[in-house]
Amino acid sequence: MLKDKKILLGISGSIAAYKSAFLARELQRRGAEVKVVMTPSATEFITPLTLATLTNHRVYSDFTEDKDTGEWTNHVELGLWADIFLIAPATAQTLSAMVNGAGDNFLLAVHLSSRCPVMVAPAMDLDMFTHPATQKNLKTLQDRGVDVIEPESGSLASGLDGKGRMAEPENIANHLERWFNARAPLHGKRVLITAGPTHEPIDAVRFLGNRSSGKMGFALAEALIKAGAHVQLISGPVQLSHPKGVDELIQVETAQEMYEAAISRIEKVDIAIATAAVADARPANASQKKLHKHELPEAIQLEQTPDILLSWGERKSPHQIIVGFALETDDGLESAKKKLSRKNADIIVLNSTLDPGAGFGTDTNKVTIFEKGGKTHNFDLKSKSEVAQDIVNLLLNKVKP
Ligand code: CTP
Repeated sequence: MLKDKKILLGISGSIAAYKSAFLARELQRRGAEVKVVMTPSATEFITPLTLATLTNHRVYSDFTEDKDTGEWTNHVELGLWADIFLIAPATAQTLSAMVNGAGDNFLLAVHLSSRCPVMVAPAMDLDMFTHPATQKNLKTLQDRGVDVIEPESGSLASGLDGKGRMAEPENIANHLERWFNARAPLHGKRVLITAGPTHEPIDAVRFLGNRSSGKMGFALAEALIKAGAHVQLISGPVQLSHPKGVDELIQVETAQEMYEAAISRIEKVDIAIATAAVADARPANASQKKLHKHELPEAIQLEQTPDILLSWGERKSPHQIIVGFALETDDGLESAKKKLSRKNADIIVLNSTLDPGAGFGTDTNKVTIFEKGGKTHNFDLKSKSEVAQDIVNLLLNKVKP
């Protein structure tokens, strides 16, 4: 869950520097991009080549890129690039230098010029860690907003036993995830999404269905998870892999099953989004067994299915935001606007099959979004994940803190 996060990993000179290689790997495994800066003494514990190979980026440890030409390394740029500057391991010496605003090595210069938040994972012997000077330095850094990842207890390189060893890479990565989550714009918000088609049985093997792929709903789930939301996804039959990080994936087949799953969960959520292409009608007399050719009726009698979005609208409480979709085969503006009020939604996302690349099955979509109150937003043809991001951006302006 560190997808697309830019992490600048600072390594100072401790034996724990060997763990930084595992840390860099773990951060990348979770989706982060990692660049490394090292103090000169860190390069004696682990080679820059190791970290450059692991991260696919050159490692920065010197003010000059090229000693012959005198070309310098831009420490300001690195601090601007990063979402967070994580110094792991942070030695007693580096912590003290950070407190004093020293800039006599490249890592410290990056620290002084960085605009991103800073996090440290101290590593030292137990007496160095409990020394009042170190404790005071950590307190000063915390007061300045630096996040401290507590060292762990165990046997230390000195042979002593106690608190001081750098937190394990996995624990540091977990800490980072929690840190990013807590700052995500939809942190703590609960979202319910319906996605995909529904299949309405005619008999044990045949069904009425539609061409919905579920891609729009799944893209929305991913964008909302990235924004920190807890997502419950109710999906009809689709050929998509489960989006990572959903709190609950409820797989259903019929409109009735989708309705029951959606209604039982609506009360507890902040945002509900109906992207599903729910069948509006189902065969009234579905057979439990396969009908043989000669048993097939000449006409199938249909009965209406429950309207999930409409039922959400009827139950809507004031803090909730409800989003519906409208797929139209003409330009559909008026029909979409009517759905907004008839279904008591806050937002209706219109896509029209008249627009090439929009609607069912495609990886792209072209939408017009209507908000309650009259605002209309027109968007160009985009990938469904970009459309999802546009919808999330709109939601960010609407959710109450
Ligand atoms: N919807 C729903 N339950 C249904 C039918 C539709 O939740 N039984 C939701 C869809 O997920 C979508 C919105 O209602 O968000 C609009 O769906 P659409 O099929 O465009 O409209 P309908 O209400 O079915 O109206 P019509 O078929 O007349 O256009």
